[in-house]
Amino acid sequence: MTTPFATIPDDGTPLRVVVVGAGGMGRAWLRTVQESPLVELAGIVDLDLEAARVGAASIGRPELPVGTGTARLASDVGAQAVINVTVPVAHHPVTTEALAAGLPVLGEKPVASTAAQGLSLAAASELSGQLFMVSQSRRYNSHLFEAKRLASRLGSLGIVSAEFFKAPRFGGFRDAMDHPLLLDMSIHQFDMARFLLDADPVSVFCEEYNPSWSWYRGDAGATAVFEMTGGQRFAFTGSWCSPGQETSWNAAWRISGEHGTVLWDGDGAPLSSLGGDLGAAPDGDLGADTEDPGQEIAGSLRDFVRALRTGRTPMGQVHRNIMSLAMVEAAVLSASTGMRVSIDALLEESYAQAVLTERAPGVLEVLKSWTSVRSALAGESVPL
Ligand SMILES: NC(=O)c1ccc[n+]([C@@H]2O[C@H](COP(=O)([O-])OP(=O)(O)OC[C@H]3O[C@@H](n4cnc5c(N)ncnc54)[C@H](O)[C@@H]3O)[C@@H](O)[C@H]2O)c1
Repeated sequence: MTTPFATIPDDGTPLRVVVVGAGGMGRAWLRTVQESPLVELAGIVDLDLEAARVGAASIGRPELPVGTGTARLASDVGAQAVINVTVPVAHHPVTTEALAAGLPVLGEKPVASTAAQGLSLAAASELSGQLFMVSQSRRYNSHLFEAKRLASRLGSLGIVSAEFFKAPRFGGFRDAMDHPLLLDMSIHQFDMARFLLDADPVSVFCEEYNPSWSWYRGDAGATAVFEMTGGQRFAFTGSWCSPGQETSWNAAWRISGEHGTVLWDGDGAPLSSLGGDLGAAPDGDLGADTEDPGQEIAGSLRDFVRALRTGRTPMGQVHRNIMSLAMVEAAVLSASTGMRVSIDALLEESYAQAVLTERAPGVLEVLKSWTSVRSALAGESVPL
């Protein structure tokens, strides 16, 4: 069962969108929106109006309307949807405002600053009947889809490992933040593991550490072992201060199953010990066998528009996405307590927090109507 949302039938004209947040990633979105025939950029919102103007100029559209308020500008320019590319702390207020104004939202990862806020946004999406999709852009990769297709031929899957070793010199906030690798990067690999296994996390044990030569204040290295629904283990080892023989930004993957192994370096085509010519894969709701998912944010933009046009639930629909942020929070908690963390316990704690802090009466009512967090995230608490 999936959460229903309002569709916008295709009348032959592109979907009018407003982009909120014109920082580094916002400018990448502006270029992608500008190049897509599926959408038309109607305006740019940023608390910093100069950033919005610079963003408009960067794509050769200096005349574009700009503003500081999402619902206001969207209404002024007749936008039909919002793309939220603000900093994580602004994801909850900006998306809440847009949904309450009756606008569907495509938001950058993470869903929000905390899983508790993510639950609030899932409830706000249900209340408004509007789609809220999180753009988890590394899913939109044809090689990842091919790895999943090849893995579907290995029989039962037992272990998936991802190794991530890079040495970027970012400067700025990442060098000073707590848990830079877990909070800013690992959500991509955690989300990809969920995709590859078609499974959700059950528990995690994680250690964080900072190698002696690290130039990060917080721990730049981490090793996490997740138990997944179905009993598989997902093992992630990563470092952001490991020069030499670096992995791709997607990480280097090994999928180990009953009959063989799939390897994927994160850049090129994946390899299977069973070979590649394996016939058609069985049907799956993600269409991993048949579809080109598109490339990164252009792929998620296409997925979003198609969802609105057809009602097909996209991969990053908020209820489906929250578990990826829950994996990050559980890993951080495990590392700080030295204990194995149950995802159910984390979700219950997040739910209690969401109920305690929710200020919108309608959203609170929806949250309270959920019989359990897992069933709500599976779309089972939502009357069709
Ligand atoms: N998918 C990826 O690979 C990827 C890569 C980089 C960043 N991101 C994500 O993109 C998002 C933005 O990151 P960034 O690097 O562009 O950040 P940034 O700091 O460069 O830009 C954020 C912009 O949002 C604006 N803003 C903040 N609060 C706002 C509000 N309430 N209303 C309107 N505008 C507001 C800021 O003024 C700023 O211009 C983050 O969620 C980040 O995690 C994703």
